[in-house]
Amino acid sequence: MNYFFTIVLVTLVGTTASCGTNCVLSAWSAWSEPYGFGQIKRTRTITANATGCGTCSGALFEEIYTDSEVPPTDVADGICNNFLDDDGCKRDIVLILDGSGSVSIENFNDMKLYFVDILSLLCPQPTPFDNDVHQLAVVLFSSSSSIRFDFNDYNNQNDYFNALLNVPYPSGSTQIQLAFNQADELFSNPIYGARANDSNNVCVKQQVMVFTDGEPTSPDAALAAAINLKSKYEVFGFIIGTFNIAQQQTLAQYVSDPVEEHLFVVDTFNIFSNVVDLLVPCRDGYPCLNVK
Ligand SMILES: *[C@@H]1O[C@H](CO)[C@@H](O)[C@H](O)[C@H]1NC(C)=O
Ligand SMILES: *[C@@H]1O[C@H](CO)[C@@H](O)[C@H](O)[C@H]1NC(C)=O
Repeated sequence: MNYFFTIVLVTLVGTTASCGTNCVLSAWSAWSEPYGFGQIKRTRTITANATGCGTCSGALFEEIYTDSEVPPTDVADGICNNFLDDDGCKRDIVLILDGSGSVSIENFNDMKLYFVDILSLLCPQPTPFDNDVHQLAVVLFSSSSSIRFDFNDYNNQNDYFNALLNVPYPSGSTQIQLAFNQADELFSNPIYGARANDSNNVCVKQQVMVFTDGEPTSPDAALAAAINLKSKYEVFGFIIGTFNIAQQQTLAQYVSDPVEEHLFVVDTFNIFSNVVDLLVPCRDGYPCLNVK
């Protein structure tokens, strides 16, 4: 009996003292500039892995929601560097338009023009949507949702942009989850004409641009549909308005990671107009590298 006890004791001491080492974490990075709704973040890395029975705990990422607004120049740089940037891939883009009552018909009509301006800055210039280099589909939602046109309906820029500018303003509530599900359908159901990468090394990116100005009418359903959508496609958010922190944290989950490259927020439609004006000079600094 005494003999048995001694062995157990020796084993326990060995476990805590010499069976492994805990991981080592680096110092935190400096806090980032504000992005999205005004979040800032910092990161750290594991500089040495745990060994043996050692453990590794502690966050590698911290984010704080501040009340600082992201300046329009930084929002424009974000769109320019992360959405307009050219990597030689063709794109199939679903644009989701919020037509709910809070937007107003004037702002809705302006937003369509702003999206024409943004899309027309893609590479190759001057007509990125001619010959179906990039394809566009539009989903409009308020109390219900509809596919206004799909990837098969047009094949040149003029027709795409005319169809976008002719989308009518419906007014109504904000059932954005219906639009998220229709965007998924546009990519996944072959009848809508989305393209795949092919064996001739053609690269096609499937992207979603979401414009919304408000709280979803069905927040839980909206978040679930958003998380499904971004698990399959790259989702960019163009959000206009002011929100409390809980709303900001939910809306930030609509877009792909890293959030600072996919979430573009301004308080008012007027500021969004300024952002769009800033895109041309920003874009001029990044000439198209891959002329298709
Ligand atoms: C820790 O282990 C992972 C997975 O094996 C490895 O990819 C990583 O490079 C290691 N990190 C360090 C700091 O050695
Ligand atoms: C095509 O390949 C690129 C690069 O590997 C990838 O980013 C993209 O998601 C792929 N597209 C599709 C539709 O699978």
